Amino acid sequence: MNHMGSVLAIANQKGGVGKTTTAVNLGAGIADAGYRTLLVDLDPQCNATVALGLPKDATPNVYDCLGGDLELPGIAVATRVEHLHVVPSSTELAGANVELPRIAGSESTLRGRLGDVRDRYLFTLLDCPPSLGPLTVNALVAADKVIVPVQTEYFALEGLAQMLDTLSLIQRELNPRLTVAGMILTMHDGRTRLGRDVEREVREHFPELVFDTVIPRNVRLGEAPSFGLPVLHHAPYSAGSAAYLRLAKEVAARG
Ligand SMILES: Nc1ncnc2c1ncn2[C@@H]1O[C@H](COP(=O)(O)OP(=O)(O)OP(=O)(O)O)[C@@H](O)[C@H]1O
Ligand SMILES: [Mg+2]
Repeated sequence: MNHMGSVLAIANQKGGVGKTTTAVNLGAGIADAGYRTLLVDLDPQCNATVALGLPKDATPNVYDCLGGDLELPGIAVATRVEHLHVVPSSTELAGANVELPRIAGSESTLRGRLGDVRDRYLFTLLDCPPSLGPLTVNALVAADKVIVPVQTEYFALEGLAQMLDTLSLIQRELNPRLTVAGMILTMHDGRTRLGRDVEREVREHFPELVFDTVIPRNVRLGEAPSFGLPVLHHAPYSAGSAAYLRLAKEVAARG
């Protein structure tokens, strides 16, 4: 059978909302179902690389794709998780924020470096940095879909309007195929009034777009990166692990 893989960007210009945690643990959850999965670390902070137990600044890394001419599949490396590969990042990638805009058409650089990634991986996840700068734009131009993590806190909705404006601009000008896979509510505390109110508000504003799964605030999720493992492997019976497995099922079902 000929399965064409999907490319999903995990993006929100707001910092610390759970992009990397979602990329790493959703990736591990999908890989756990036996689907070949690639996580591309597009953030010079290298958090996803380190969370998967790999060193930052190893070569080759994603900067050799964006600043050079290597293709993603050629520099993907295996992780300790079966079926999960990663394209590591480097602090040097920060340079791409200055270099890319100097080149005409550079919004499509990453798309041009995908190579045969869709034949090799059923899911490719792009972990974006906290900005709507050139790296995130490259991810959104290369992607078929975007997942937007939303931290269930006050002001959750504020940045979302800007995020959705950027998505429509990219759909109009650069990538008409791009769709929103969904918003995922993260770091949710269902015991607080605020947590419940924000969840209701986001679901009311975006009735079709919010995943059923909600990611709880969970200590195991926060500590897993320091062990270089996804939570599914660090603490398989935790609430965080169960939540990301559920999300993986939802994402895989939507294709
Ligand atoms: N559900 C959760 N429960 C507990 N801690 C969490 C949860 N999700 C994320 N964290 C922690 O919150 C912090 C921010 O999460 P994360 O790094 O995933 O966000 P981010 O959006 O990728 O941040 P940045 O914008 O800097 O890239 C991290 O320390 C992470 O371990
Ligand atoms: Mg991050």
